[in-house]
Amino acid sequence: MKYEKEINRRRTFAIISHPDAGKTTLTEKLLLFGGAIQTAGAVKSNKIKKHATSDFMEIERQRGISVATSVMTFEYKDNLINLLDTPGHKDFAEDTYRTLTAVDSVILVIDSVNGVEEQTRRLMEVCTMRDTPVIVFINKMDRDGKNRFDLLEEIEKELKISLHPMTWPINSGKDFKGVYNLDNKSLLLFTANTKADDEDAISIDDLNATLLDEKVGERDAAQLREDIELVEAVHGDLNTEEYLAGKVAPVFFGSAVNNFGVREMLETFIRIAPVPRGRETSVRKVNVGEDKFSGFVFKIHANLDPKHRDRIAFMRVCSGKFERNKYYHHVRLDKDIRFSNPYSFLARSKDVIEDAFPGDVIGLFDTGNFKIGDTLTEGENFYFTGIPTFSPEIFKELVNKDPMKTKQLEKGVQQLTDEGVAQLFTQFGGNKKIIGCVGELQFEVIQYRLLQEYGAACEFRTLPFYKACWLTSNDQKKLDDFLRFKQQNSAEDKDGKPVYLAQSEWFLNTEISNNPDIVFHFTSEVNK
Ligand code: G4P
Repeated sequence: MKYEKEINRRRTFAIISHPDAGKTTLTEKLLLFGGAIQTAGAVKSNKIKKHATSDFMEIERQRGISVATSVMTFEYKDNLINLLDTPGHKDFAEDTYRTLTAVDSVILVIDSVNGVEEQTRRLMEVCTMRDTPVIVFINKMDRDGKNRFDLLEEIEKELKISLHPMTWPINSGKDFKGVYNLDNKSLLLFTANTKADDEDAISIDDLNATLLDEKVGERDAAQLREDIELVEAVHGDLNTEEYLAGKVAPVFFGSAVNNFGVREMLETFIRIAPVPRGRETSVRKVNVGEDKFSGFVFKIHANLDPKHRDRIAFMRVCSGKFERNKYYHHVRLDKDIRFSNPYSFLARSKDVIEDAFPGDVIGLFDTGNFKIGDTLTEGENFYFTGIPTFSPEIFKELVNKDPMKTKQLEKGVQQLTDEGVAQLFTQFGGNKKIIGCVGELQFEVIQYRLLQEYGAACEFRTLPFYKACWLTSNDQKKLDDFLRFKQQNSAEDKDGKPVYLAQSEWFLNTEISNNPDIVFHFTSEVNK
């Protein structure tokens, strides 16, 4: 393999969590370990606090800050780690889902007090779909959380994944004494605000040794012995293959804000997390070690600030070596383009780069050439697959307020939906345009951008739908009949795929059971 050394030292991953579980805090601690930042508080949270604002320009300002932290690259013990940030705000969930298509593994942060929350569930669904390897970090052990066994059971059940404890906590909240590392058989005593260097692990090969009683007290030592016996009997050693296949998730307990238990996780992460791997395309599987470059766009960031009206396409390198100023083949547009200022995202700044390797994410200035899922190659025609689209949750009819600007409106809507800001559906047999989004905010963004960038005024009319399902059938006639019969609820998406828009779960279930020859899909794929 030509670039073997570069590829094997890369780890590309994302941290995912329900808002407030501690993603930003954990990110910061990892960057501190990597030496990418020197002081705590240096990472600007791209979290948009629920209560803080509903003003999307303010949100955009914060999002602007977060472009620099969209990808954070740092080195740790010779490994090059690409940490892809995901937006915390629920309304940008689609962005997060797509980011997950560009990583090789994830760290899932769970708040020990709240357990599995709504966003945790949804994000894990995406990981499960892709068999993404997951490491779980159970955070906020310094708070009175749920019983650890109950919590693990809840996570396993709710997220449908087997867990494998790598560390085990001794109490929680005020009584939190630390964790026992089952892997290297050592005890880590909790002290608030641990500095990166002064975590002292006490080696305890034999849990029956009195050293344990001395360190944590007889009662807790006895409890720990009991717990560990149970945990070891159930789990045995971690099977790395099962982790890599996304079947088993190693679990760590800690407290991100206290920088406790983070190093243990990072050490295990660099040891077992997958290096960049091959990917499926519409034509064949592309091997990560191939000489020729290929990559795909998984996110487009448009700046709403009129002073900086730039778009950045985020591209994941999948094979070969990307080089600045070299011509690459844009498969969908069938044209060759080159990039004079591609940049990498070192945590401190955006730097122009000369080259990039599989696993890396590069930022490409875009003047409207890209849409989500676009593929660049050295000439071959294929698209990377596995980039999902999920059903929006809010649907509104797009109403043109200025018939003189119809063309501009259509162009604007096409481009914005290419960027992945929203989904566009056209009602079957008519031409009512329906915009689907995850959150109300996007409608404001769309309205604003259509006016600012395309001079097109529009408004939205609320529609009574709650979910879009993509339809397929082996019996085309049955499908056509259904679409005709349910005209009010039928539409096609941007790629012409038929979609059923359901008013409620009840209607949806009724249609599913009344139409056994039609398959209702809850996701679609960009390049299929
Ligand atoms: P997020 O990115 O997942 O949304 O979460 P973030 O890291 O911003 O953490 C959310 C809140 O939880 C923060 O407090 C943070 O300080 C706190 N936190 C993170 N890790 C721990 C932990 O291990 N233990 C405890 N007790 N708290 C933790 P905040 O009050 O919302 O923000 P701030 O004012 O402290 O920044």
